[in-house]
Amino acid sequence: MEQFEQIDEQRSWSLAQRQAGKRISFVPTMGALHAGHASLIERAKSEGDVVVVSIFVNPTQFDNPDDLEAYPKQMERDWEVCQSLGVDAVFVPTKEAMFPNGYCTFVEVVGPLQESLCAVSRPGHFRGVCTVVQKLFNIVQPDCAIFGQKDLQQVLIIQRMVSDLSSPVEIIVAPTIREDDGLALSSRNQRLDDESRANAVSVPRGLELANQAFKAGERNSNKLMTAFANEVLMYENVDLDYADVVDLDGFVECEEANDHCILAVAVFFNGVRLIDHIHLGGPSLPVAIED
Ligand code: PAJ
Repeated sequence: MEQFEQIDEQRSWSLAQRQAGKRISFVPTMGALHAGHASLIERAKSEGDVVVVSIFVNPTQFDNPDDLEAYPKQMERDWEVCQSLGVDAVFVPTKEAMFPNGYCTFVEVVGPLQESLCAVSRPGHFRGVCTVVQKLFNIVQPDCAIFGQKDLQQVLIIQRMVSDLSSPVEIIVAPTIREDDGLALSSRNQRLDDESRANAVSVPRGLELANQAFKAGERNSNKLMTAFANEVLMYENVDLDYADVVDLDGFVECEEANDHCILAVAVFFNGVRLIDHIHLGGPSLPVAIED
């Protein structure tokens, strides 16, 4: 497995692969790799001839310096995970290489996708994501890139960016991988203390309760959001960032839910922010719900 820190090295390798007629599939990550990332890498293997994984904790997408500081870093383990999964090249640029002094160009998707959920609660976040992802695309020059459905707003914004900028990259969305108790895997889960980890299962449980209410005929978005909120807020040290019913097209908030809507949520457990969503009327989450 190759490892590149320099932009030129990665670009030359990618160019050689393309000249050899290989299809490059790409998985951008911020490291602290888990089974969710591994599933994207497996998908990448089936979508291309060679797989590139980038590991870069992108400072421009963090609105909170403490959050950036606390983001888990485990480079050696990540390297082993990539090696064991048969990744062909890992791109691990330094912050200085990606954002040198004087850097001042950003990519921003504007419009409805920027007016709800994480775009509102984390100002500037998606501007940082789009900038780094477009920059990584320019360096890695992939034919396709795999993103997780867990960060649905992120991948919809990236699809919009790629389409608007005519970037020659196919965006592939892969399903959310969950723990047995339903909690969506996330690099942030390792920052949860034992109590918060136990309480965090209320996120998929609350989503599934709202889904069941929807399937039983409830269409009032406020009531669906309240069903979720009641489930998570019964614990201590929990803050609800948002719980919103939005239409899948454009992520516009809906007062009346329908089967083209998701319930998307962000919740702090003792300061650690987790996000998740459920497609209303869609498949159930694997959670235990008491009658
Ligand atoms: P990161 O949080 O490391 O996630 C990298 C990719 O893994 C994203 O596409 C994300 O949606 C996906 N992912 C995370 N948890 C998952 C899960 N439980 N199941 C399936 N896929 C999952 O998302 C980012 O990094 C950054 O914003 C990035 C796109 C790399 C830009 O910096």
